[in-house]
Amino acid sequence: MEERKRARSARMADHARLLFSRCYDGEQPAVVSRAPGRTDLMGGHTDYNLGFVLSIAIDRATYIAARPRADRVVHAYTETYDETTEFSLDDIQPDPQARWSNYLRGTAWALSEAGYRLAGMDAVIASDVPIAAGVSSSASFEVASALALLACAEVEIDSKQMALLCQKAENEFVGMRCGILDQFSSVLGQRSAAVLIDCDDYSHRIVLIRGEMTVVVCDTNKPRELVGSEYNTLRSQCEAGAALLGVDALRRVDLPTLQANRHKFDDEEMYWRCYYIVTENDRVLAAADALNRGDLGRVGALQNQSMAMARDYFKISVPELDVMWELCNQVPGCWGARIVGAGFGGALLALCHPQAAAELMEYVPPRYKQRTGIEPNVFATPASEGAGYV
Ligand code: GLA
Repeated sequence: MEERKRARSARMADHARLLFSRCYDGEQPAVVSRAPGRTDLMGGHTDYNLGFVLSIAIDRATYIAARPRADRVVHAYTETYDETTEFSLDDIQPDPQARWSNYLRGTAWALSEAGYRLAGMDAVIASDVPIAAGVSSSASFEVASALALLACAEVEIDSKQMALLCQKAENEFVGMRCGILDQFSSVLGQRSAAVLIDCDDYSHRIVLIRGEMTVVVCDTNKPRELVGSEYNTLRSQCEAGAALLGVDALRRVDLPTLQANRHKFDDEEMYWRCYYIVTENDRVLAAADALNRGDLGRVGALQNQSMAMARDYFKISVPELDVMWELCNQVPGCWGARIVGAGFGGALLALCHPQAAAELMEYVPPRYKQRTGIEPNVFATPASEGAGYV
């Protein structure tokens, strides 16, 4: 698997170089950046509640081949949409037509706002991160953009600081109030390890994966159209719940405190959503501990609990995810599965014994298609290294 992963990354980087020379008169890029997507082993919607997440970087990434320009113009071609965009660093505006470009524009905007003097750039973007699958194609694009822009300007910054500016781009320029899970996972990921992030003080700990396991991403291919607005609503509800309890974030609340204050909630739905967040934080810490002990059965059981509560209490599942979950759990040797990313479609992650992973990838897709009419995208991924230059 590791061999295959290295080959994939080298192949994609070469592909980006080739595209670059096709777009820019046979020239070579000065740099190729690579930023992976992520999948969260545990901790759904805990990040913006200042809680914990446990995630890995996957082996799918966005690659940007780039070279600096003498002027202040950024010119970029994306293979994904076969489109080009161009803007001046002196007047960065969102583009309602080429919406994909707003992640690049927003990142350039956030870096400039923070005082980094950027240079113009010619770039091409190639990616094998599935889009709208809940594995953070957008964060991987932002982080790859930041790395390319910074290299062209010959500026070095701390990777967490860079990730926070990418989050700012998504929050303030794109308009999605995401937490820090995606961007931090993309920069902090490590081979054969998970990363435990404390979203309150931004500290992190590398959790070595003991025991043999394979992560299978099961993308439902159910489009997630409303995700931005639904997501922002969830976030507001959690914030309102915290305010009722007199704290700035649900991270500060434990289960007995929440239960003792139930009478303060007129809104049942809001109470159960808070209940899910408070218990999910506990599950993250328990999962990190079990992963490190090699108790993968326990990690899987916690993931199944997380999924059930995400469906019944937090209400971010859809029928396609429920079907996928049911099918994954029919495979012996699949320890558990849960929604990754925001929900409302997108992907589920199944934690499997390596042999069971191969079986799952044969068993689940035809049955899922039969029940939903949708062709899923199911692939295994190792825990991979975080963003950098290739
Ligand atoms: C999306 C957001 C993340 C996180 C997850 C849910 O992926 O971008 O910040 O909130 O949803 O855990």
